[in-house]
Amino acid sequence: MATAPRLLAFAGSTRTGSFNKKLLAIGAAAARAAGAEVTLADLRDLPMPLYDGDLEAAEGMPKNGQAFKDLLISHQGFFISSPEYNSSLPGVLKNAIDWASRGKPGEAPLVAFDGKVAGLVAASPGALGGLRVLVHLRAMLENIRVLVVPQQFALAHADEAFDPAGALKDPKAQASVEAVARRLVDVTRRLSAAPESPR
Ligand code: FNR
Repeated sequence: MATAPRLLAFAGSTRTGSFNKKLLAIGAAAARAAGAEVTLADLRDLPMPLYDGDLEAAEGMPKNGQAFKDLLISHQGFFISSPEYNSSLPGVLKNAIDWASRGKPGEAPLVAFDGKVAGLVAASPGALGGLRVLVHLRAMLENIRVLVVPQQFALAHADEAFDPAGALKDPKAQASVEAVARRLVDVTRRLSAAPESPR
């Protein structure tokens, strides 16, 4: 039997009660049901300074920047649920990705991202569900050599979308998250099984 693809799931919000963390949990469960091994990471547990070139030159990568980078390196795909802040990425998510994109001498460029696969969802109390962050997040990840699966989902009116147990009330929304998870698992599995190709 093929080895289960290893996915790292993380949200672009650190907030307790975050709608994106709730949606992430549903996506992670769907990815497990589709055959993946999923690690849930919470950026709240990995506080790191804002990227600063002088700090990097003086002290190198912060401990939690390295911890996040190591987590990315040890997984083949990423399931990301992110809020939209002012139509784009929340600083906490962008900052973590910025640190993890930094290399060290002797390391392949973008080692945490190159050749990885991502599936994206968003949640917002607004009517668009954070659709615009998905555009920016997709473009950014693709520029750092991550293959983002075409399926994506933005959960509108997220403040009314979950029942007290954290399940999605709308079966169509549930099916949409599952579709992202299934495709992510499928593509990650296929890419991991394929012979190494030139990058
Ligand atoms: C927001 N919010 C928001 N929502 C949206 O749909 N489009 C937007 O552009 C923004 N912009 C924005 C900026 C900032 C600074 C904050 C703090 C919030 C609202 C946002 O979607 C809402 O706070 C979500 O609940 C955040 O996601 P979590 O924390 O629930 O996962």
